[in-house]
Amino acid sequence: MRVLGIETTCDETACAVVQDGRDILSNVVASQIDLHQQYGGVVPELACRRHIDLILPVIDQALQEAGLDLQDIDLIATAHGPGLIGALLIGLNTAKALALALHKPFVGVNHVEAHLYAALMSQPDPVSFPCLGVILSGGHTTLLLMKEIGIYQLIGQTVDDAIGEAFDKAAKLLGLPYPGGPPIEKLAQEGDSQAYPLKAGQVKGHPFSFSFSGLKTALLYTLRGKQGKESPLPLTEQEKKNLAASFQRAAFEDVIQKTLTAAHQYGVGSILFGGGVTNNQTLRQLFAQEDRGQHQLIWPSFGLSLDNAAMIAGLGYHQYQRQGKSDPFDLDPLTRIPFIDPLHN
Ligand code: KG4
Ligand code: ZN
Repeated sequence: MRVLGIETTCDETACAVVQDGRDILSNVVASQIDLHQQYGGVVPELACRRHIDLILPVIDQALQEAGLDLQDIDLIATAHGPGLIGALLIGLNTAKALALALHKPFVGVNHVEAHLYAALMSQPDPVSFPCLGVILSGGHTTLLLMKEIGIYQLIGQTVDDAIGEAFDKAAKLLGLPYPGGPPIEKLAQEGDSQAYPLKAGQVKGHPFSFSFSGLKTALLYTLRGKQGKESPLPLTEQEKKNLAASFQRAAFEDVIQKTLTAAHQYGVGSILFGGGVTNNQTLRQLFAQEDRGQHQLIWPSFGLSLDNAAMIAGLGYHQYQRQGKSDPFDLDPLTRIPFIDPLHN
């Protein structure tokens, strides 16, 4: 079954063709970073307009690279949430229009679940369930027990900023460009990660919840004094590197400690990782070092960490197999798709 995947949740316009949930025939991503960089973050209205301009050319390119035309597609899968409402509407309406015109089924996929599926797609051998899922992206920091594809139990999530968002805000404070993850990772490579005693937040009574807004504020106070209002400290290049390295260490130490504790508590053999922050090579090394071979660590392969449509097409295939029919044409875009939250149970 050949699935055309569409992804427009935020600031990437992406389309891919994937066969039987695994073989990637094409994976095209048009990034909008150039557009949003000057504002230091994503401007939703501009993102929507750019999606409108790019969606059809990106679909054409994905088909061309796969050597197929629209008639060869068996299913259309699109990310219908979570994401920016206007951006989601463009991908979802395009999928519905294609399904209607081609008389093909379509399914709406959860973008966050798809980030975890990206790791499964990258893994040649079958993974035994249940396993632990760790999503580290610009919008999410989530630990899930994955019982099988499509069945998840929420273990913990952030109560404030997502980890990628914290990297983006920290980068802004350090005068680095958006998105902040890659320049912080680069700077941190030459810094002393113990130079500043930064720590991520803990949520009382909820050992697997995350909190990164305090870490970002600690960085602000380090740079601009106790009120956060003084003019920025004239940091030397080395101090800036040390601060980036200390921030990154604090964020990753927290994620690694909570993930490995959850992996032991829930008795899983494998940990699946997803989301843009998992592109960070230091994170991958630190995890391997701390885990000492106790779990199978499954990372998304190149091109599948950041937002992409191959993961949407891949997961869409399984979703369609499970539900056995198309989604209805009145399927809504969803800015949030909550997993059941233990904090509010
Ligand atoms: O998964 P993604 O492409 O989009 C969302 O679904 O949010 O993740 C984007 C996030 C951004 O916050 C970006 O700064 C972060 O991933 N990121 C990184 C790295 N590359 C991207 N964070 C840390 N280190 C990186 N190398
Ligand atoms: Zn994402």
